[in-house]
Amino acid sequence: MGSDGSSFNFVVLKKEKIMTNRTFTMIKPDAFASGHTGSILKHIEASGYKIIAMKLTKLSAEKAGEFYAVHKERPFYGELVEFMSSGPIVAAILEKENAVEDFRKLIGATNPANAEEGTIRKLYAKSVGENAVHGSDSDENAQIEGNFYFSSFERI
Ligand code: GTP
Ligand code: MG
Repeated sequence: MGSDGSSFNFVVLKKEKIMTNRTFTMIKPDAFASGHTGSILKHIEASGYKIIAMKLTKLSAEKAGEFYAVHKERPFYGELVEFMSSGPIVAAILEKENAVEDFRKLIGATNPANAEEGTIRKLYAKSVGENAVHGSDSDENAQIEGNFYFSSFERI
């Protein structure tokens, strides 16, 4: 690094670019069990997202609790942990410009009753608890959540 600190600036800029362009998603147990995985992935890819990492897995209650720890004090936390560990899920890291914000629009409101027509939750979710997909709510959480599931050699 030069005395003007230029290489340090380069590293910071590069990190911001990666974080802004990626989000993390899960196809939740309800959508997987209903056979909507293929349709949801097709919808996501058709909306311009590139799949960077993907796996089919099942969360233990402990792991589901860890993932949603931010909601620990909420009245629905127990139900959420039970549901998220009730069956297989598909986890993925997705890349696109403005990934986090655009993906939240693509999936629609948390409660499918309030989700806009054409959104993934409007199309496939059953209820506020069983709402088909997860989408990160910030660039920082997208990175934390991606790291929760994937090691560096499990992503492109
Ligand atoms: P995620 O993308 O899964 O994080 O959903 P969200 O960001 O749209 O909503 P939020 O983070 O506020 O809540 C996380 C998850 O908790 C929701 O997706 C639901 O699965 C569940 N959840 C939220 N509110 C309720 C509720 O009132 N009842 C139940 N049973 N579950 C809820
Ligand atoms: Mg959330």
